[in-house]
Amino acid sequence: IPVDPFDLVVFGATGDLANRKILPGLYRRFFAGQIPEKSKIIGAARSEMDIEAFRAQARAAITDHVGKAKQVPAQIEAFLRVLDYVAIDAQGDAGWDELAAKVDCARVNAFYFSVAPALFGPLAERLHRYQMAGPEARIVVEKPFGRDLATARALNATLAAHFDEHQIYRIDHYLGKETVQNLMAVRFANILFEPLWNAQYVDHVQITVAETVGVGGRGSYYDKSGAMRDMVQNHMMQLLCLIAMEPPYHFDPDAVRDEKLKVIRALQPVQPADIVRGQYLAHRHCADEGALRGYLEDVENPNSRTESYIALKCHIANWRWQGTPFYLRTGKRLRARTSEIAITFRQPPHSIFDETDASWRENVLVIRLQPNEGMNLKVMIKEPGPGGMRLVQVPLDMSFAEALGEDGADIPDAYERLIMDVIRGNQTLFMRGDEVEAAWAWTDPVIAGWDERGERPQPYDSGSSGPEDALMLMHRDGRRWREIRE
Ligand code: BG6
Repeated sequence: IPVDPFDLVVFGATGDLANRKILPGLYRRFFAGQIPEKSKIIGAARSEMDIEAFRAQARAAITDHVGKAKQVPAQIEAFLRVLDYVAIDAQGDAGWDELAAKVDCARVNAFYFSVAPALFGPLAERLHRYQMAGPEARIVVEKPFGRDLATARALNATLAAHFDEHQIYRIDHYLGKETVQNLMAVRFANILFEPLWNAQYVDHVQITVAETVGVGGRGSYYDKSGAMRDMVQNHMMQLLCLIAMEPPYHFDPDAVRDEKLKVIRALQPVQPADIVRGQYLAHRHCADEGALRGYLEDVENPNSRTESYIALKCHIANWRWQGTPFYLRTGKRLRARTSEIAITFRQPPHSIFDETDASWRENVLVIRLQPNEGMNLKVMIKEPGPGGMRLVQVPLDMSFAEALGEDGADIPDAYERLIMDVIRGNQTLFMRGDEVEAAWAWTDPVIAGWDERGERPQPYDSGSSGPEDALMLMHRDGRRWREIRE
């Protein structure tokens, strides 16, 4: 459904995120007919360049990041005409009058802060001073949203000085992923799962976000963050919330966010014995130059104690989940790129079959986030054949792309969905300030503990499943991680 014409200003329009995600995503929505030609997308950045140079940059971003089938010259030209550019000094006054003259405050206007968090305050203050912070204005901010509770609080306060909470869209791009939203559909649009969705029937939950990439060119940022800040405090926490939350009374931004917040607040402190941190070593068998380097070389800091892998066990102290552990793991340079949530159910209370001990396996519901989004439910059936009642586990497997045909193959990227939600004024898939603070309040003591104890992460081989001790974290509870594979 098309939206009304709007103005979108992208601060940091020459940066990596703008080129990889924001501009290509906007083009795809334009191509889909959702963005009217009377809208304006205004790039703003420090570089002095004219509009033609910015259009050339956008054209290159589209060529590099949009599928060939959607690269239609007439459409690209029409999209480029929607673009504008203003050179701006985020901490000074240059360019602001020009920008203010281009933004029409009578219609929806959004300001995407695709810049370092240190600039959030100066940008918000100038939007206010140059009278662009009207009631129709929305600001979009990227992670990292602070690096601990104190900095997140300060950032929230800075933004709150100029904008109301309902105007602030904190992006966690995992919430824009199709399957992540599907978690809510699976749970709350089916009667099948919800009665079993509690500690009485769920033995444990595993959430895995495994990547094959290393820290690449982002070493200076990453070495100050590590997997806990970069992935657990935000993306993994959001997945955990969607799995564990109570049914919201309505699919409405605050109703959903209230329920997620309760989960974060109910998380018990993690014990040091329940966490394993790792750091990747050089790749021993890979011919690819870039992949040969270990973490310490990638970040150019031989003494780094930052983790590129983390596995932890946590408990949610509420009626629904008392007694069901949640195991989270994420890491870089692992064996395969795969993100999934696996819910393992308990044994039936009594077995009527003689040989169940040998062949019985737990029911597992696996929700695959990427790649190849889908769901897989492992169930026990009778092994076919005349050999008596022998049991075997089979998967009920569904790939969303296959099940939905063409619609499924054309799943929009997380960013394009989220940007359109900003324009529509729907905050359901964005983090509220109190959620972000609660998440930091949970991670801060864990990180402080490592710092106090001077703990070093365990080395693990690139291309492996992570450090050995992560296996032990499960083994000692009589459980196993699922294999990391595509
Ligand atoms: C980002 C992290 O937020 O998410 C990166 O900063 C990580 O380190 C990325 O690689 C993973 O996102 P995706 O969508 O590729 O799973």
